[in-house]
Amino acid sequence: MSFEHLLSPIRIGPRTIRNRMLITGHMPGLDEHGAPGPREIAYQRERAFGGAGLQITGATPVHASSLNEEAASHFNVDDRIIPAYRNLADAVHAEGGTILAQLAHYGGAMVSHEAGRPIWAPSSASLCTTPWPSSSAFASSCASISSWTPCSAGPW
Ligand SMILES: Cc1cc2nc3c(=O)[nH]c(=O)nc-3n(C[C@H](O)[C@H](O)[C@H](O)COP(=O)(O)O)c2cc1C
Repeated sequence: MSFEHLLSPIRIGPRTIRNRMLITGHMPGLDEHGAPGPREIAYQRERAFGGAGLQITGATPVHASSLNEEAASHFNVDDRIIPAYRNLADAVHAEGGTILAQLAHYGGAMVSHEAGRPIWAPSSASLCTTPWPSSSAFASSCASISSWTPCSAGPW
């Protein structure tokens, strides 16, 4: 079997991925203080060394209203995370791989008693995808969303 398509490169936006083998998003629980540290970088580097074309981090919050201090994650709430991301990307690139940060906001999937604060979500309607009532969620207005300050990290 030649796996002609699986092993051939594919272009995604500005990047050429060396093959179509994808490691789907997950957080290995190795972050350090909300950023990729040496253990997580070694974990991802091994996967690139093994030949993966593209690997994806777990969902990482883009705003303080989506932080859950107890969950292993990357905190993309300001530019302090950029050096750690650069180290992560450099390690994966050194093995010929590509890595993508999965940016996310948990919205109504946050649990208010865990978050310890009101939930920000597109609507206060209950989420049918989680077992938790989201009655504490309030609908974020366009104005409140536009006040979010995005992290200024460029494509990597
Ligand atoms: C513990 C765990 C954490 C996961 N975290 C994420 C995540 O953060 N983002 C995401 O897009 N998918 C996440 N997933 C889904 C996986 O990336 C994958 O799509 C899913 O497990 C189906 O693939 P599988 O049948 O090979 O397990 C997670 C899955 C598991 C089991």
